[in-house]
Parts: sequence; C-alpha cells; structure tokens
Amino acid sequence: MQYRRLGSSGLQISALSFGAWVTFGTQVGRGEARELIAAAWDHGVNFFDNAETYAQGEAERVMGDVIADLRLPRDGYAVSSKVFFGSAADPRPMQKGLSRKHVHDACHAALKRLRVDFLDLYYCHRPDPDTPIAETVAAMDALIRQGKVLYWGTSEWPAAAIREAHKIARAQHMHAPTMEQPQYNLLHRERVELEYAALYAEFGLGTTIWSPLASGLLTGKYNDGVPADSRLAQPGYTWLQRGAFGDAASRRVERARAFTQMAAELGAAPAPLAIAWCLRNPHVSSVILGASRVEQLLQNLEALALAERYDEAVWARIEAATA
Ligand SMILES: NC(=O)c1ccc[n+]([C@@H]2O[C@H](COP(=O)([O-])OP(=O)(O)OC[C@H]3O[C@@H](n4cnc5c(N)ncnc54)[C@H](OP(=O)(O)O)[C@@H]3O)[C@@H](O)[C@H]2O)c1
Repeated sequence: MQYRRLGSSGLQISALSFGAWVTFGTQVGRGEARELIAAAWDHGVNFFDNAETYAQGEAERVMGDVIADLRLPRDGYAVSSKVFFGSAADPRPMQKGLSRKHVHDACHAALKRLRVDFLDLYYCHRPDPDTPIAETVAAMDALIRQGKVLYWGTSEWPAAAIREAHKIARAQHMHAPTMEQPQYNLLHRERVELEYAALYAEFGLGTTIWSPLASGLLTGKYNDGVPADSRLAQPGYTWLQRGAFGDAASRRVERARAFTQMAAELGAAPAPLAIAWCLRNPHVSSVILGASRVEQLLQNLEALALAERYDEAVWARIEAATA
C-alpha cells in the first residue's frame, strides 16, 4: 500500500480506501462484508468510508459490527460518515440537511451504528441551500472540540461554498474543512481538475474521490447491456442506471468501450487501469474503492503497481481514447 497525507493535514491515509455504498446492507451479507474489510485491511487499507444514508444506516451497522468483530486496532484505521440525506426512509424536515440539529443528531447516530467514540472523518454529503454555511461550520467545529470528530469535510460542494466555509472558519477561529469527497474518474473529471484547481494550494484541500470506475462502467461490464448480478441491476437503482449511462450526448458507454479496448491493447485489466489513472493525480489523497466481491477488490488493488508501469505518453493515449 501507499500512504498519502490527507491534504495538508498530518493524517496518513491509504491511497486506496474502501467504501460501503450500495454493497453493505443491500448487495452483500455480513459474511461477505467481513471478508471484504478483512482483505482490505490485510492489504494496508486504513480508511473505511460510510454515510448515514447508505442502506438507511444499515451499511454503518454492518461496518461497525465487522470492524469490532475483526478487532481492528482503533488507532490504526479511520472511519467516516456523512450527513445530509438522513437515514430515515422518508426523512422529516429535521432528519436531514446540515442544520446544527441534524449534524449533531446524525453524528451521534453514526457513532452508535459504527460502534466508535469518534468519527475520524465527517463529511457534509451535499451543500444545503436551506442552512447558512456559518451554522454548519460552527456545528462541525463544535463536534471537533467535543472530540466526536477529528477532521471534517464536504462532498460535492461547489468551490465557492468551500471557499466560503474557509473564510468563516478563519474569521471565527474555527476548524475549516480538511477534505472534499468528489466523484472522479476518466468519464468525470472537471470538478477535481478545473473547478477545485486553486483550492489545493490555497487551503491544502485533500480529496477522497468516489466512483473511480463510474459505478462499474469502466470495467467494461456494461459494454453490451446490464448483467443481472451487477450494481445497475439492483432493485431501486434505476436512477443510478440513468446516471451511469448518461444521455446520448455524454457517450458514456461508447467511451467506456474505447477505454476497455485500450486496456486490452495494453494487456491490462480495465478496472485496475482506471483506478491507476485516478492515482496518478497528486491532488487525490485516496481513491475510495467499491467492491461486491473479494476478487474484485484484489484485482482493484493491482492499480498501485499499474500506476507506476506506464509513462506519460501511454496515459495521454488512454485519456485521448476515453475523451
Ligand atoms: N460522497 C458521495 O456522494 C459518494 C457517492 C458514491 C460513492 N461514494 C463512496 O465511494 C465508494 C466507491 O464508489 P463506488 O462504489 O461507486 O466505486 P466504483 O469503483 O465506481 O464502483 C464499484 C462497483 O463496481 C463493480 N466493480 C468494482 N470492481 C470491479 C471489478 N474489478 N470487476 C468488475 N466489477 C467491479 C462492483 O459492482 P457490482 O459487482 O455490483 O457490479 C462495485 O461495487 C462508495 O462505496 C462510497 O463509500 C461516495
């Protein structure tokens, strides 16, 4: 494993981390979840990502139980949660968003489900147009001062909102966001590469990026339709199917086909190659992997070696083929 600083913080986070979205509490049982976490840990993964909304809290419960069962040393790993969408099936107004009330309640609920005394990383899962940013910054700062959160961050916030949070935190002597959790993959690059470009030097912003395989599209498994045992065939995820395939103009499947063709020419498996491409970006602190089976996870971990294998000319060809 390779370890990277989470932005300008001192936290040494594994360059490949592991997340629970769609899989834990939905696609895989506790036994498989245990095997996945154990395999990740055995290969040096030290950050496990979660959110209040994943399987309505069940993903956190499964992860908390598994980590406790495996007796992972609390000072050797970091676990996260995210607040915004709520964990109730049909959240009432106070059960979602980024108000002081919900940030407080969601944090305490996540601590219980994950069976920990503090969250290492805590994210605002989306911006909340109904809460002043100052209220959310103060709520996060309070949790840090209470020892319930160590680092707070954002997920899919516009650069202007992140800048505003920093401005407020600096003026009020509060803790500013350390990291952002954006989508980043060969099919989705603009926010990380362009919109946030100034923030890395300005605030030492770290990134823990999600969907490095665009939900599996970059493995090539959707090149000829949707396999019955895949994520996009899961009941209740038709909205995800729309997002993954995009509209005709985005040519996402076509681009995924071109990428898998390129991988075949290089003699590399597409999944670790796509993840390796993410690792090449120095502003990426950690690539959060998703996997529904241990074999997928083990294959994806090969990305570390692949990232070193090719020169810039090859990466440029890969980018051109996928553009
Ligand atoms: N902050 C946010 O808004 C946000 C949003 C999304 C995700 N996340 C976080 O980021 C993590 C990773 O995102 P993601 O799960 O979307 O990542 P991803 O790598 O784009 O997709 C992972 C899925 O692709 C398939 N897959 C993975 N490796 C494969 C392989 N080698 N061969 C074939 N299929 C493979 C698996 O699905 P199947 O086997 O079911 O097809 C797996 O669950 C999540 O778990 C979550 O923690 C955060």
